[in-house]
Amino acid sequence: MDADARKKAAARAALEFVEEGMLVGVGTGSTVNHFIAALAERRHRISGAVSSSDASARLLRAAGIEVIELNDAGDLPLYVDGADEATRHLHLIKGGGGALTREKIVAAASRHFVCIIDDSKLVSVLGRFPLPVEVIPMARSLVARKLVGLGGQPVYREGYTTDNGNVILDVHNLKINDPVTLEAEIGLLAGVVSVGLFARRGADLLLVAGADGVQTLKR
Ligand code: A5P
Repeated sequence: MDADARKKAAARAALEFVEEGMLVGVGTGSTVNHFIAALAERRHRISGAVSSSDASARLLRAAGIEVIELNDAGDLPLYVDGADEATRHLHLIKGGGGALTREKIVAAASRHFVCIIDDSKLVSVLGRFPLPVEVIPMARSLVARKLVGLGGQPVYREGYTTDNGNVILDVHNLKINDPVTLEAEIGLLAGVVSVGLFARRGADLLLVAGADGVQTLKR
């Protein structure tokens, strides 16, 4: 099974958590795109979706699924999203696709976060994947200097603007032994909108697709 087939297997496994009449939080990325395709088959049995990005919202609408603003939705029973890296503690790095801030908001509004990945993303220590940090444009070089102070090597994601009109710094060479503390530390830097560490509110359940099928990891 190639990586895309594994992503698809993880995405289809998440359907098990979609219940009749649910309003479903939907993340962003190539794994989630498979989930949206699967969800389309059930579009008449859910009440709609809250999306973490403009890109996913477009796909959801094209699939005939109503997209509702989070402000009109209240708390969500379920959020399904991918990740760039995950540990067995269900701590995540997200934001490779740039949607980290809205993903963090939808995750915070959700009672159950099901994360779908292929097994190449399961790691013992986070940080091999560069950590995305969304930053207010005028604070870019200030935040970059602070991130160097924390031991990272920030790289400006050139030519990319987030759905919120901000920029992204991808921080290389961080060995993230204490993701909860680092998430708070980076999140408190002036000019940071959000950091792609999902540790304080990590996933509740991880579906990991590999050669032998889909494994379930829980908190
Ligand atoms: C989007 O900003 C990310 O957080 C994605 O969830 C993450 O990058 C996973 O993407 P893929 O499913 O495309 O690997």
